[in-house]
Amino acid sequence: MSTENNAFLIALREAFEQKCDIDTSHISDVYFAYQIQNFSLRFPHYSLNDILLLLEGQDARTQLLIDSLLITTTTMFREPETFRELRRVAPECIGKSTAQKVAFLGCSSGEEVLSFMILMREVARHISFSAVAIDISEHAILQAKSSLYPLHNVAEYAKNYQRAGGADVFHQYYRKHQDLVAFKPALTAPVTFQVGNCFTLLPQRRFCLIFCRHLMIYFSLRDMKRIQAMLIERLEPGGILVMGQSESLLLEFENKLQKVAEGMYLKAA
Ligand SMILES: C[S@@+](CC[C@H](N)C(=O)[O-])C[C@H]1O[C@@H](n2cnc3c(N)ncnc32)[C@H](O)[C@@H]1O
Repeated sequence: MSTENNAFLIALREAFEQKCDIDTSHISDVYFAYQIQNFSLRFPHYSLNDILLLLEGQDARTQLLIDSLLITTTTMFREPETFRELRRVAPECIGKSTAQKVAFLGCSSGEEVLSFMILMREVARHISFSAVAIDISEHAILQAKSSLYPLHNVAEYAKNYQRAGGADVFHQYYRKHQDLVAFKPALTAPVTFQVGNCFTLLPQRRFCLIFCRHLMIYFSLRDMKRIQAMLIERLEPGGILVMGQSESLLLEFENKLQKVAEGMYLKAA
């Protein structure tokens, strides 16, 4: 990396940290450089300096830059096969647990959380549990708390729901309000949404199910090791760690958990 790019990345981190009030030390330089490259492809007329200035603004482009730096992209029942598998294993995993606590790390705008809450309502309504859902993006958590999503997303949500083994009519879970849909507040009532860094915010307790999907992309190898070691430790025996389908445990942790499906790992009871 050139000295000029290095200086830019340092300045970008500073501006980004100030703007979003976050600590970016867990995010690798390679990740930032890659995201800026993508942003520059979309907006070629922005110089590196313009990008820094953009972070001082308040408009839609500023939010777009922040969102592309954080990639908050998500959807409901993302990677439906994972949710299909969860329909099978989650009831027993939570039902047998002593803690009955679920964690969602990097939950973004909440679609993943809602998907799981809908699934549990359909397969194991009688099992009660509570959940904590954490994301570093305040904007994303605000949306997650509101359970409001664009109406035009619903076709994709419903398709994924069916592919994930959804057993009911999907439109019973939301109400239309003009160009938005509002999911039923009861679905996320057991969930506490929190803004912050999952390294510091994940409660010091054991969980029976931990979602940490599409988060590894942000981390340097050192932080990947840190987060995976932490998650293995926080899983209770019999608990399941859910990662993205293209994500996996680092080699050194493979003997700690047993792979039960793509991106899904069980801690021996
Ligand atoms: C690509 S999205 C994935 C969302 C969801 N888990 C899914 O799989 O669809 C990753 C989310 O992680 C959040 N994030 C990144 N680093 C984080 C950290 N250290 N602590 C908490 N959230 C983080 C980002 O803001 C973003 O919303």
